[in-house]
Amino acid sequence: MKILASSLLCAVCAFGLELNAEMKAYIDELKKEAKEQNPSFVDFSAKNGEILFKTENIGKENKKLSCVSCHGSDLSQKAQNIFTGKDIDPLAPSVNKARLSDVKEVKKWLKRNFKDVFLREGTAEQKGDVLYYIMSK
Ligand code: HEC
Repeated sequence: MKILASSLLCAVCAFGLELNAEMKAYIDELKKEAKEQNPSFVDFSAKNGEILFKTENIGKENKKLSCVSCHGSDLSQKAQNIFTGKDIDPLAPSVNKARLSDVKEVKKWLKRNFKDVFLREGTAEQKGDVLYYIMSK
């Protein structure tokens, strides 16, 4: 059990990103929820997160959207909100230290942005996957 716990922790530290305690707790919460929904769930996947991040869907205002529509495909760069044209700072925590540091912000925007693109909230597994993808950048 001890070995399992440390290997799960290292999936996160492997990205070289030190999440704060609240964010770690949020990831653990999502893992628990994902496991409840799918007993064969082991860990989130940055690869699946990337696929999801780039998946287009007819979303808000009948527009074909993906996460890339507002965040761009290079997360280390600024991008523009497709609806308002306003600049959005890079999502990559490696260049923007404010990212993935405030759980309230992360929860609020994941909820809102999944609804924009997919017209529904993401599952725990989908949220974890995209967070791993963003963490890897
Ligand atoms: C319609 C434009 C739009 C789309 C589409 C969009 N986002 Fe966002 N996103 C924003 C805006 C605006 C913010 C808040 C401003 C900011 O944080 O710079 C934000 C913030 C975030 C944050 C908060 C990060 C942090 O720690 O501050 C995350 C995570 C995020 N988006 C993920 C996603 C994911 C995943 C998708 C695809 C499901 C997505 N976004 C699609 C506009 C968008």
